[in-house]
This record gives sequence, structure tokens and C-alpha cells, in this order.
Amino acid sequence: MQAHDTRSAAKRTNTLTLGQTKLRSVIRGIGSYLPVNKVSNADLEKMVDTSDDWIVQRTGIRNRHIAAEGETTSMLATHAANAALANAGLTAQDIDLVIVATSSPDYTFPSTATQVQAAIGMHHGAAFDLQAVCSGFVYAITVADKFLISGSHKRALVIGAETFSRLLDWNDRTTCVLFGDGAGAVVLEAQQGTGSVQDRGVLTTHLRSDGRHREKLYVDGGPSSTKTVGHLRMQGKDVFRHAVSMVTDVMVDAFAATNTTAADLDWFVPHQANRRIIDASAEKLGIAPEKIVVTVDQHGNTSAASIPLALATAVADGRIKPGQLVMIEAMGGGFTWGSALIRW
Ligand code: UT7
Repeated sequence: MQAHDTRSAAKRTNTLTLGQTKLRSVIRGIGSYLPVNKVSNADLEKMVDTSDDWIVQRTGIRNRHIAAEGETTSMLATHAANAALANAGLTAQDIDLVIVATSSPDYTFPSTATQVQAAIGMHHGAAFDLQAVCSGFVYAITVADKFLISGSHKRALVIGAETFSRLLDWNDRTTCVLFGDGAGAVVLEAQQGTGSVQDRGVLTTHLRSDGRHREKLYVDGGPSSTKTVGHLRMQGKDVFRHAVSMVTDVMVDAFAATNTTAADLDWFVPHQANRRIIDASAEKLGIAPEKIVVTVDQHGNTSAASIPLALATAVADGRIKPGQLVMIEAMGGGFTWGSALIRW
């Protein structure tokens, strides 16, 4: 009886590997938006005791964009969402899920995602925010992927959008030079795949968090504690120390889950916080420097928006092409961290 069960199981497994189809969340479109107001390191030299040299050497940042007075996170997100829809050749009517990853929402509530939903003229489906700070986009891709591969939803707009300039203490040179505002969005569509790593779409996702690290990177306000918005506070050195090992851990998990290696990657598109973290992570895993997409020089750390901004840049300039293997990863406040391996 036992032998028979084992044979049946083997037969079932074989049938599954040979003939199985699997829903995949395929990236069908991408768009991004940066506020018009560009602020250079030289501009910051006039505001705080800093220098272009220090900022470039320690972070790789040269410029950041700052939202105009009255320009909210949902407005940036809406620009990016409309660009992604146009790129996908779709309209809001084709979408049934909107997730906005943000830690700088327009309001405590309603969610920024419902503001975007209204702004793009979508009156059906579901929209909600996801808060995982700089890891927000990786978390949002993961959540959207679960919705799509379950068959419950067909197409998702996944947006990372931030106005971190509103959370900064502009007298604190250790943080105010690092961050910027922006938004990026992708349209994910459920498509039939074969279950192999040759499929287009999200191949694997790996999320982690550890709430013991709260005081290393946080905002010192909130509705339930201070009844204020608060300012970003960071022990930069401590964050840096953890970042490389955390993001490389979850990339190793992604390689193991898909039986791939760094050599299989076409592009490495990391969270854009600091050039030194990016380079150290790539070096630790043996990812060739020419495969790294870096845009932190142009927009600083835009938290949840940074990965879709970098992806949109590399798609627009022709680097990322359909069929290529792309690794995204991020680490941020909480701490939260995660990776996703995607075949474009
Ligand atoms: O998205 C995830 C969240 N964040 C990150 O990934 C950021 C992680 N951390 C970092 O990127 C780096 O730790 C920083 C870029 C924030 C700082 O670099 P660092 O090499 O760790 O510098 P440090 O904090 O040790 O500061 C070195 C010196 C200090 O002066 P003393 O004490 O050595 O005299 C700072 O006061 O640099 C000084 N300093 C500055 N000098 C000029 C700090 N900020 C500035 C500044 N301009 N803006």
C-alpha cells in the first residue's frame, strides 16, 4: 500500500513538472515621475554645513528632486501610474488592484492608494497602502504577486511613491542630504507560465523584518504617539552595518529558491540609498559591476520609490529588455528587507 502511494506520488510529481501551468505576475508596463524642482549638493551647501565632496564620497548622491508646495505623494504616484498604464497600453478600467508603497502618505487616512484610484478614474477593484519604508516596493510586489497568482485579481498597479522631504529635519545634515521625492509604478498582469525559471514574471520573493531595530531608523512622530508627523532620525553607521548582510541574505535565498546564481542575472536593481552599500552587496555576491543599475546619483534615497525609478530608467534607456533576469532588493526602517527575482 505504502509502495503504491509512493509510486502515485512520484507519478503525480512527474505529471506536474512535465505538464503544469502556473500563473505568473508579468511586468506589462512601467512609469515614473520626479518633481520638477531639482536640488544639487551645491544647493544644500547653502543650507547646512556640508559639501559636494562629502556627499558624493559617502553616498554617491549628486541631485535629489523635491516636491513643490502642495504637491502630494498621491500626485507623484498618479503621474507614475498613468505613465505605467500608457506604457502597458492599458487604461484604469483594465486594473483591479492598486497598491501604493509609501511611508509619506497624503493623510493618516484615507490611504494614498484610494487617492490614486480616484485620480486615475478607477471606481472598481481594491486599493490600499503598504508601509515597509525603503523595502515598500519589494513588499508591494510580493503582495501583488500573491493576489495575482491566486487568481483573485488580474492586473495590479504597484506603486512606490514618497515625499520624504516632508519628513526631514532640514537642520540635520546627517539625514537631510540623503533623501528625495519621487514615484515609480509597474503594471503586473497574471499570465499563464510553465512553472520554470524561464517564465516571464515574478519568479520568487523573500521578505524579512526584525522590529528590534526601531531606534536605528525611524520617524519621531505619529498619530497615536505624538499626534504630530515627526522627523526622520537615523543612526546611519548602524544602518549601513546591517544593510549589506541583510540584503545579500535575501538574495542568496532567491538564488537558492530558483536554482540560479549571480552569473545568471542580467541586471541587479537595488534600493538606491547609498552607492557604497550597493557596490559592497554586489561585490559580496559576485555580481559584475556592469550589471548594476545605479540612479541614486540623480534622485538620492526616495525610499519605496527608488527601485521602480531605477527600473524605469533602465527600461527607458534600453538596458532592461523582455526575457532578462532582474534582481531587486531593499532594506529599510523597521528593519524590513527583501528581494524579488523577476524575468522581465
Ligand atoms: O534606505 C535605507 C536607509 N538608509 C541608508 O541606507 C543609509 C545608511 N547609512 C549611510 O549611508 C552612511 O552611514 C551615511 C552616508 C549616512 C554616513 O556615512 P558615514 O561614513 O557612516 O559617516 P558618519 O556618520 O560616520 O560621519 C562621518 C563624519 C562625522 O564627523 P566626525 O564626527 O567624524 O567629525 C559627521 O558629523 O561626517 C560628518 N557628517 C557630515 N559632514 C558633511 C555627517 N553628515 C555630514 C554631511 N556633510 N552631510
